[in-house]
Amino acid sequence: MERTVIVDALKRTDIGAEINIKGWVRTRRGNKNVSFIALNDGSTINNIQIVVDMAKFDEDALKPITTGACINVNGKLVESMGQGQTVEVQADEIEIYGTADPEKYPLQKKGHTLEYLREIAHLRPRTNTFGAIFRIRHNMAMAIHTFFHERGFFYFHTPLITASDCEGAGQMFQVTTQNLYDLKKTEDGKIDYSNDFFGKQASLTVSGQLEGELAAMSLGKIYTFGPTFRAENSNTPRHLAEFWMIEPEVAFIEIAENMQLAQEFIQFCVRWALEHCQDDLAFLCKMYDNDLIDRLKFVTENDFKRLTYTEGVAILKEAVQNGKKFEFPVDWGTDLQSEHERYLVEEHFKLPVILTDYPKEIKSFYMKQNEDGKTVRAMDVLFPKIGEIIGGSQREEDYEKLSRRAAEMGVPEKDIWWYMDTRRFGTAPHAGFGLGFERLMLFVTGMQNIRDVIPFPRTPNNCDF
Ligand code: 4AD
Ligand code: MG
Repeated sequence: MERTVIVDALKRTDIGAEINIKGWVRTRRGNKNVSFIALNDGSTINNIQIVVDMAKFDEDALKPITTGACINVNGKLVESMGQGQTVEVQADEIEIYGTADPEKYPLQKKGHTLEYLREIAHLRPRTNTFGAIFRIRHNMAMAIHTFFHERGFFYFHTPLITASDCEGAGQMFQVTTQNLYDLKKTEDGKIDYSNDFFGKQASLTVSGQLEGELAAMSLGKIYTFGPTFRAENSNTPRHLAEFWMIEPEVAFIEIAENMQLAQEFIQFCVRWALEHCQDDLAFLCKMYDNDLIDRLKFVTENDFKRLTYTEGVAILKEAVQNGKKFEFPVDWGTDLQSEHERYLVEEHFKLPVILTDYPKEIKSFYMKQNEDGKTVRAMDVLFPKIGEIIGGSQREEDYEKLSRRAAEMGVPEKDIWWYMDTRRFGTAPHAGFGLGFERLMLFVTGMQNIRDVIPFPRTPNNCDF
């Protein structure tokens, strides 16, 4: 018999029909006469109840059907007496695919902490929480592709191995096939990469933006969506060493349109979650964060507040004067800390905020320089509970200015000659941004720790699974 996935089975109304269900046992309870098995196959957060009339089965054969075991059930779809579900399955035949020894299976009781579940990341997708999160993650990826596709953007694949440091922050993981026990050095004591795999120093990318700009200067509107790597040694609930980033890049737009695109993009994704992930969101809302759904709706219904970095710093300084305590000082010219960003969003404006025109010293070489000589046309989108969710900018399209800034910031032109060529041949105004996929996931799921919204997190000292 053809298998029915549980999400579909729960919607069926053909009471009395023969049905086949396969899945993992969540719980089993009952007595000598009847046994109730809550079965889940990952297609939905909801379980289907399998009712076993023990008179029809050999009790010993059913003994191994304990939490975590995998079974294959043939039976009849019947109306459910219990609350919360409309149908259940009256079992005729049960085959055990795999047992899960109750002494050893780590997901016995409910209510494991998220910290404990991180240690068993290979099994945590079987919990309600992580089933919900990873179904939402899939839906967010679909939302992203749909948003850009419907607006005429092309999905462009940028390389993961690269010889240039887009953000210029030096936080790159090296890629090498050299024998690390016998590293060859040049005469001046530097590592000799000439015999390495690529014949030069290579790393994992920190951003697909530079190649994305090349594509925007030919295809017009593109986006990337792929893994990104940063060797920043920051053990925070918002940083991963391996994360996914979405980077749209658009020819012929300036910063105002870039901000509008960012707002519409996030709103589209959040609306998508509200429409397509109702059961999973309701679960997360109930279990972890009662304001979650209201917060999501709020973001889809309100414009983000736009202001400059300079205005933002003035507000923060005033707050400090009025007695607000921050761990880090606020001064024009320094990067804002997450606590500052969250103050603006959560306490001052009570809205998502887009800050623009940051001091050039704290931003990357490629950003368009403003007339004032001090700021660049950067934009950061700041979100409640998260802080920075998007970083972007209008790009410097002028060859001379870009070249000067790259030199000032120590970005070797020999590494980015191909990027500079876009400014030499048919340059044009353009802008783009990067959305951290897991930061979006944090917002949409209401989870507190970024390690809980990616299946297998990579962080300092953690590369298991
Ligand atoms: O602000 P960032 O560094 O900007 C860029 O990489 C640009 N090249 C983007 C562009 O203009 N095309 O990173 C963009 C976003 C951040 O706002 C944040 O959401 C996320 O990427 N991000 C991280 N997410 C998880 N872990 C980390 N270590 C992250 N670093 C950045
Ligand atoms: Mg940033």
